[in-house]
Amino acid sequence: MNETVEKLIKNIKDIPAMPNVVIKALNIVKDPASSIKELGDIIACDQALSIKTLNLVNSAYYGFSQQISSIPRALSLLGMNKTKNIIIAVAMKPMFSSGTNKNLWKHSITTAVGCEFISEHLGIRDCEEAFVIGFIHDIGKTILNMQDKEIVEKIKEYVDSGSDIIEAEDVFFNTNHTEVGAELARKWQLPLLLTNVIKYHHNPIMSSMPVECSLVYLVDKLVQDNLHTETINKEFIENLNIKLDKPEVLREGILNKAKIILDELSN
Ligand SMILES: [Fe+2]
Ligand SMILES: [Fe+2]
Repeated sequence: MNETVEKLIKNIKDIPAMPNVVIKALNIVKDPASSIKELGDIIACDQALSIKTLNLVNSAYYGFSQQISSIPRALSLLGMNKTKNIIIAVAMKPMFSSGTNKNLWKHSITTAVGCEFISEHLGIRDCEEAFVIGFIHDIGKTILNMQDKEIVEKIKEYVDSGSDIIEAEDVFFNTNHTEVGAELARKWQLPLLLTNVIKYHHNPIMSSMPVECSLVYLVDKLVQDNLHTETINKEFIENLNIKLDKPEVLREGILNKAKIILDELSN
């Protein structure tokens, strides 16, 4: 392991633990012998999670026509994967909302929604995990955001004035959020796909899972505060086979959809 990453992670007294419900949910979905009822049991044990799941399933995001008032009914409509996504988003909110970067939660949900939207509507193949890869891609930032406040601020200034975030982090930390995130993912024993996306979302052609990494790369660019289409590397998104003729319209659609989830989960 890169020595700097190791030091950085060691220096933080409280490395956030992966919430237990997330580990359970990931394991249940991975196990072909498991049933949706097991996911339902996780939700039923947690009142806040139950309420948020029902609020979300009744929101315009999912667009079901009838009012859904029970968890079993909600889950039968959502299916295993979407239920797992909700559990992950709700359970990891505190982690993504702490530290100096108050925007990370919003950015993570927005990227998740964008990945899901593009994979469903523009037909990116085989992307069941679209939401979760978009949500988790910048997890390394949760660690960097716990470092020296002044440095974090300095990096933000560099990025706001047009510098590449990876270069800026490398200058100040001698590592960056993709390396730190990949190490955290390894410690947490996250599935290979998630680790790959965390590590390569700024450089998808280096990944052994380039489609998913390119999808996150593209959405990450589209949902930045200021859209700079010229910074989207065409070579990096070639494998997605999508026509990007109106990126600002796509961006608008993603932001509007994300706002529904952000509003539902805002407290
Ligand atoms: Fe990133
Ligand atoms: Fe990002």
